[in-house]
Amino acid sequence: MSEEFQRFPMVTAMDLRGRKERPRRVKMLMRDFIEDSLYNPNYGYFSKQVVIFTPGEPFDFSSLYDELDFHALLSKRYVEFENSLDAVSPSDTRQLWYTPTELFRPYYGDSIARYLIANYKLTTYPYHDLIIYEMGAGRGTLMLNILDYIREVDPAVYSRTKYKIIEISTQLATLQTSQLMQSTAARGHADKVEIINQSIFDWTNPVPSPCFFLAFEVFDNFAHDIIRYDMATEKPLQGHVLIDDLGDFYEFYSPQLDPVAARYMRVRDAATGGRYQLPYPSTRLGRWLQTQKPMAPNLSAPEYIPTRLMQFFDVLGRHFPAHRLLTSDFHSLPDSIKGLNSPIVQTRFQRRPVPVSTPLVHQGYFDIMFPTNFQTAEATYQAITGKLTRVLKHEDFMRRWAYVEDTETQSGENPLLTWYKNASVMYTV
Ligand SMILES: C[S@@+](CC[C@H](N)C(=O)[O-])C[C@H]1O[C@@H](n2cnc3c(N)ncnc32)[C@H](O)[C@@H]1O
Repeated sequence: MSEEFQRFPMVTAMDLRGRKERPRRVKMLMRDFIEDSLYNPNYGYFSKQVVIFTPGEPFDFSSLYDELDFHALLSKRYVEFENSLDAVSPSDTRQLWYTPTELFRPYYGDSIARYLIANYKLTTYPYHDLIIYEMGAGRGTLMLNILDYIREVDPAVYSRTKYKIIEISTQLATLQTSQLMQSTAARGHADKVEIINQSIFDWTNPVPSPCFFLAFEVFDNFAHDIIRYDMATEKPLQGHVLIDDLGDFYEFYSPQLDPVAARYMRVRDAATGGRYQLPYPSTRLGRWLQTQKPMAPNLSAPEYIPTRLMQFFDVLGRHFPAHRLLTSDFHSLPDSIKGLNSPIVQTRFQRRPVPVSTPLVHQGYFDIMFPTNFQTAEATYQAITGKLTRVLKHEDFMRRWAYVEDTETQSGENPLLTWYKNASVMYTV
């Protein structure tokens, strides 16, 4: 397809935003392919059948015997939730997922609220208001739980609180607004809340005031570039995707990095002092041995680099100079595809997960979910924003800020602490 690769025009996810049909006879960077697959307003994964599960009534953990009991009840509620959706509009391809915010509501939000109140009082109180930005707020549950908690526990802080959501999905922004209007208690928060239906990458407004910036399970869907290294020279090559006239996909690698990927490589190198993992042996002997294998490829295994995450840190550094970030995401993911820092690519069909082995699949039908390497992310964030951070395992953060007895079962097992072993929390100090 080399001739087509020369001839077909190069497009970006931005160019494709207005398109109703998936593109053909074009080429693009892997980052744009992933972004288009996930976020295209017409056929992207997030604009289609994504539903975030909510358990209805919060779980009463003290009435459950142990984690198995919790799991059984969760499965029951999950099926009931989906049955009720199917009763209104049946679907074989509905994408349903849950997050700790939803499973452990309101206790998860209570812990975050405790963190926010304590850190606000230690820093800018009483000179500034408590301004909270939340990027990617899902159903709006964290917002409601945080505001309920502050209203109940610290009315003086509550009177000075403002909560702003930055949400890319129109469907979810609408849901967040309706959740806010759903009950009298929630409506009470309405004058404190602003829901901004926009991608964080389109943000241009300067926010000079001190604020907290929350991001829970958003990094995992940020688009990545794909890099493979020339095994002889160790030079990186960047992956492009070509789509032919039938809609089939082909991967190409070019030694010319685009400015964003090139900048990521430079920033990472400077921020970590050159100490980061690569997808090929670190010693010359190891590399030589690899090239001696029969049919050895001349390029390394792929590495997925978080170029969009770097651009998010750019937005924070440039437009939110006085922010303090609080973010949680997965540091590892099971069943990911081949490569370093590689994603899980999967869809759901008739209520069953269907994993596949490449992100080059029919755009919009598959979730593409990346782990976050917190060590590198932390170094990159520090280099870009000039701020210091701390990274804790999800469990350690919760031990610090949750009232752990709220989620303890009768046997002493505590799902808030033992689930999400593969998640970490990073915050600005
Ligand atoms: C996995 S959900 C997490 C929802 C919620 N934070 C929770 O933990 O329940 C990811 C959320 O991020 C939003 N999102 C993804 N990319 C975004 C972007 N570039 N700007 C703003 N929101 C984004 C999605 O629409 C969705 O609301």
